[in-house]
Amino acid sequence: MGGKRTAAVTGASAGIGAAIARAFGALGWSVALGARRTALLADVGRSVEAAGGRAFVRALDVTDALSIDAFFGAAETALGPIDVVVSNAGIGRPGLLHEVPIAELEREFRTNLFGPMLVARRALPAMLERRRGDLVFISSMNVVELRPFQLGYTASKAGVEAMAQVLRRDLEGTGIRTSIIRPGMTRSEFGFSWEPDILVRILDSWKEWGFLRHVDMMEADQVAFAVVAAVTAPPGVNVDVIQVNPERAPGK
Ligand SMILES: NC(=O)c1ccc[n+]([C@@H]2O[C@H](COP(=O)([O-])OP(=O)(O)OC[C@H]3O[C@@H](n4cnc5c(N)ncnc54)[C@H](OP(=O)(O)O)[C@@H]3O)[C@@H](O)[C@H]2O)c1
Repeated sequence: MGGKRTAAVTGASAGIGAAIARAFGALGWSVALGARRTALLADVGRSVEAAGGRAFVRALDVTDALSIDAFFGAAETALGPIDVVVSNAGIGRPGLLHEVPIAELEREFRTNLFGPMLVARRALPAMLERRRGDLVFISSMNVVELRPFQLGYTASKAGVEAMAQVLRRDLEGTGIRTSIIRPGMTRSEFGFSWEPDILVRILDSWKEWGFLRHVDMMEADQVAFAVVAAVTAPPGVNVDVIQVNPERAPGK
């Protein structure tokens, strides 16, 4: 869909979310950026404006329905109706099921699955009224490769994909499109807090199951291009799923 649009990106303070916001900025779009770390968010907002867009930043915790409502209300007041929503905020807590504290499993699910559900629920009525909109869900290659040691993460991403596919059917004919983006390994803050011990166990298990063919990673900007492709698809086309994976570096 052509023309200048107004987008909201969750988890826009770092990594892939920040890159998506900048990519929208480069299209000259207005972008509402949400995450918990507002100082980082303000930096990303400035980079969105430097790229040619308009930025609105506000604290957002996707595990909290009231925070989601306040974020959208403020963003609509500042930028007008929002017609592109990217549910990108996500966390991963690795470990065997019995090793991960219940509170952390719950936080993983509330961030990765219930959060995107609440965000879509908040955004939908205005989109339905205007008969246009794009809902994008950042999933993961984990849903296809079912990697060990990431049970809660993989289950929550699989849930998000199921939700997105049902939404696509429920919304068919309304003018609202639903897309899933499945990134492979991408350089970001994701996994920064993981203990070296669990990291070694994860990488060993990936090798054992054949998921670690090389260790080259994508840059976040390279994933953002896939989101832009989905939401700028021509009218009448719904980009259902895009998988984007790192190419092995030449000569390696
Ligand atoms: N990196 C990869 O290899 C990879 C691969 C496949 C899929 N993904 C997915 O890509 C998405 C982005 O990940 P990333 O790699 O860019 O990770 P990242 O650098 O750790 O960024 C995660 C973002 O999510 C935000 N966030 C976390 N909890 C939040 C909450 N409760 N409310 C609002 N925002 C929250 C963080 O901001 P605050 O901390 O400021 O709130 C941050 O902006 C995630 O859904 C992840 O699962 C990543």
